[in-house]
Amino acid sequence: MRLVVATANTAKVTEIAAVLHDFDLVPRPSSVGEVVEDGDTLEDNARIKAQAIVAATGEAALADDTGLEVAALDGAPGVYSARFAGPGATYADNVAALLRALDGRADRTARFRTVALVYFPDGREVAAEGVVDGVITISPTGVGGFGYDPIFAPDGGGGRTFAEMTVDEKNAVSHRGRAFRALAWLLTAAGGDEPVSPA
Ligand code: IMP
Repeated sequence: MRLVVATANTAKVTEIAAVLHDFDLVPRPSSVGEVVEDGDTLEDNARIKAQAIVAATGEAALADDTGLEVAALDGAPGVYSARFAGPGATYADNVAALLRALDGRADRTARFRTVALVYFPDGREVAAEGVVDGVITISPTGVGGFGYDPIFAPDGGGGRTFAEMTVDEKNAVSHRGRAFRALAWLLTAAGGDEPVSPA
């Protein structure tokens, strides 16, 4: 199955391609600009991104949206994870802001949640969710990954952050790995060999 990938984030594309190896993934055309992600939920934002690609290309599109939900912050930043430190925030800005927000807090538990979604030109869609629980570390560690990876240590990872893992190690337990494996399963008619679009 041929899918145009909505994201231009190369770190994300690497993770997605490692999971969806049986699919023909096409990069987002450079003519398509960034879409304003103003949905209220991760699913809304994934749909907004995928629909924009379908409108521009006429082809089935693949998008995902992720939020980091921190227990001590009542689930924030959630859908606002990209701009936790304000508009135009860098990954480093967001990491620093989150560490400040958790300064002195005993509860550092958090979870990443991803919605992965394929939107078809005829308006059908298939979506799947993936979640990983973990903790926000005291300080950044590791150089891999992106975003909040240097301060997120998934449960069962021996205390290592996602930024200390290979792409395959991260994908094995991550929100994105789980969401895209579930999506692939749905798209291939519950585990069949041939990718099919949903009826
Ligand atoms: P997006 O809207 O799916 O791009 O995700 C929103 C924000 O969440 C990004 O700007 C990153 O800061 C963060 N994020 C998304 N996925 C990950 C991940 O796998 N690891 C760490 N941070 C992530």
